[in-house]
Amino acid sequence: MTLNPPPANIGPITNVSATNGSVAIGSFALPNRVMLAPMAGVTDRPFRQLCRRLGAGWVVGEMVTADPSLWHTRKSLLRMDHRGEPEPRVVQIAGGDAEMLAQAARLNAELGAQVIDINMGCPAKKVCNKAAGSALLRDEALVAEILDAVVAAVEIPVTLKIRTGWCAESNNALRIARLAESAGIQSLAVHGRHRQQRYTGQAEYDTIAEIKSHLSIPIIANGDITSPEKAAEVLAYTGADAVMVGRGAQGNPWIFQQINHYLQHGERMALPSLAERHQVLHGHLEALHAFYGTTMGVRIARKHVGWYLSDDQRFTPPQQRALKQQFNALASPETQFDWINNAMAPGAATRLLAKGSYAA
Ligand SMILES: Cc1cc2nc3c(=O)[nH]c(=O)nc-3n(C[C@H](O)[C@H](O)[C@H](O)COP(=O)(O)O)c2cc1C
Repeated sequence: MTLNPPPANIGPITNVSATNGSVAIGSFALPNRVMLAPMAGVTDRPFRQLCRRLGAGWVVGEMVTADPSLWHTRKSLLRMDHRGEPEPRVVQIAGGDAEMLAQAARLNAELGAQVIDINMGCPAKKVCNKAAGSALLRDEALVAEILDAVVAAVEIPVTLKIRTGWCAESNNALRIARLAESAGIQSLAVHGRHRQQRYTGQAEYDTIAEIKSHLSIPIIANGDITSPEKAAEVLAYTGADAVMVGRGAQGNPWIFQQINHYLQHGERMALPSLAERHQVLHGHLEALHAFYGTTMGVRIARKHVGWYLSDDQRFTPPQQRALKQQFNALASPETQFDWINNAMAPGAATRLLAKGSYAA
């Protein structure tokens, strides 16, 4: 079954609860059933902290290569930076060699990781010149070898993220899930697409429901969850213990509190006010500039502001495009803040798009 778009006639779903008190991964009890998906280039420390503050019950870092000889790069160092984050610090590792992944898990645990997540969901063909991510799903013996090696390497919980298989004809997610459970994996996140779909088409949830019905470890449903209603439907349909939101959180970190509220009360909470959106966006930019430094922070802020603008119902799509162009031309934190102060005040479109303003 594909649940996209949600049926218009579906009412509040009352047979799923927001907290489902029993969901725990290792010794970590989840405060709710909504997680932030790992997204390389998106779920950096500032974004993870923001999503946690706005209701994400669990967040996962951007994938880190299993090859420690690459950890000195600025990119890896930033990805491995979890300073000041609330527990648990979940580090995702990616690679194709069991021994290397085991060593990476061990080293990350020594560096302060509290949970190791193994990436078998990413569609990239290779990491470190070896099949990795979802490409591993074709080789069940190697999957078993990796899972056994990583679980044996660390005392902390190890979790796994997969797709439904390599292609439509080879949906082996249930077999992989069983391998995971017997290897001692503590929770399994399933993106309802096979690898060849990359991010196209629609996620399906039948495979996730089937896995859930056969396994006892927590199962997390992922793929195309972009609204509170959809989250409730997917939880009810699959019986999953939690949902994981990726792209739906880009430009909309409020989605976590919105889903939590809907699961608890069966109705949507009010959307954040303009003043609140302003405050969150301002804080997010400050955190990006501080985390990455000015030059890189200014560049990374453009991507996020673009997503916030795409989600901003005050503007028409052409206005959103024009505003993104304006913002992308700004080259310093000061000009970015100045622009945000203008954009997040009433009458922004008229003012910013008037002739003689930023770009007109
Ligand atoms: C930009 C981007 C980067 C991603 N990076 C990772 C990653 O590092 N590790 C991983 O397991 N999945 C990664 N994913 C996959 C997501 O975690 C998630 O499974 C996928 O986007 C489907 O969920 P969604 O429909 O809610 O976005 C990435 C997805 C996107 C869009």
